[in-house]
Amino acid sequence: MTNAPKIINKVVVTALVLALAINFIHQYCFVAAKKERILYEFTTWHVYVVNGLSNNRELSVHCKSKDDDLGFHYLSAGDNFTWSFREDFFLRTVFWCDVNRDDAQAVFKVFWHDVLLFYKCMWKNCVWTLKDDGIYIKNLDHDGLDELYRNWEPAGQ
Ligand SMILES: *[C@@H]1O[C@H](CO)[C@@H](O)[C@H](O)[C@H]1NC(C)=O
Repeated sequence: MTNAPKIINKVVVTALVLALAINFIHQYCFVAAKKERILYEFTTWHVYVVNGLSNNRELSVHCKSKDDDLGFHYLSAGDNFTWSFREDFFLRTVFWCDVNRDDAQAVFKVFWHDVLLFYKCMWKNCVWTLKDDGIYIKNLDHDGLDELYRNWEPAGQ
């Protein structure tokens, strides 16, 4: 019986340490994650689809998300199609484009929740350039170098 106060003391101290640890974990994990979410929710993204073809070749571009159809656009060489948006609450926003030139076509995602992509976009501008030999993403985090992302497919497939 004489040990009871000691045991209670131990229990109280353990509970206190646990409470502090839980508070710490909450602060540094959940609050930090929430902050990041809020940042995502307030980030406005700009996507550019650029006609980088040679010989004044035209390009048709048709981009959409699950909720938005941005329509058909015809781009002369050097022109671009651009739009802006914020990610949806669940960070599930995906945009993709269906592009066609005289002899080739491609369908590819131009925006999805991907931190690697976000670095290339420098958290603002995702620039896709359609060149003769493929589809490139501008890596704004790396001297604005155009990186080959995918190839064209023959038209009519
Ligand atoms: C898109 O076109 C506009 C208007 O011609 C131009 O000012 C802008 O620099 C172009 N952006 C890109 C990324 O090509």
